[in-house]
Amino acid sequence: MTRGTFISFEGGEGAGKSTQIRRLADRLRADGADVVLTREPGGSAGAEQIRDLILNGDADRWSPITETLLMYAARRDHIERVIRPALGRGAIVLCDRFADSTRAYQGAGGDAPVSLIKALEEHVLGATIPDLTLIFDLPATVGLARAQARGGEARFESKGLAFHERLGAAFLEIARREPQRCVVIEAAGDIEAVAADVWSAVSSRLGL
Ligand code: TMP
Repeated sequence: MTRGTFISFEGGEGAGKSTQIRRLADRLRADGADVVLTREPGGSAGAEQIRDLILNGDADRWSPITETLLMYAARRDHIERVIRPALGRGAIVLCDRFADSTRAYQGAGGDAPVSLIKALEEHVLGATIPDLTLIFDLPATVGLARAQARGGEARFESKGLAFHERLGAAFLEIARREPQRCVVIEAAGDIEAVAADVWSAVSSRLGL
């Protein structure tokens, strides 16, 4: 079966992932690639509806376990309707957040059991695992300040500094445990410098 390339962008709030993923999409498209730029939670019509439920309301609207189940319901719809069809036709799928965000936000940041998250990964993701994951690393204080200046959905931003510091550590731990899949991107630099690091990781890892 022809299979495309699956790249996820991960990290805490305000790390610049969304700006960088758009730039990477533009650059790959300019080279003639078939690129699908998508995001989680969301990325399909049903998953975008679940996104509205997850991201709006009070910080404690959902428990970490309920959030995990909502994330995975959204993720399954996104995988079935968008990600797998795109990979099947050979496209490059760029996804702004994916399963590592659940490990970090609901697992390390909240207290959803690792065994639950692992079981969902096994049954819901199957073989649909990124070929490359870029983990944007930025001190939580800097990222939160940037995210607050930008505005928008604030449910997770309102969870406090200790929560966001646990997330940053969790993402770095994922990168340490899975070095064949993950590359850490130092996100504190200016947009051009970060874009250059993203390109170098993508081109060298995947030989694009
Ligand atoms: P965004 O701000 O990058 O669009 O992401 C939306 C929020 O959803 C962000 O605060 C992180 C959170 N999130 C989780 O808590 N778990 C997940 O699995 C995903 C994909 C996102």
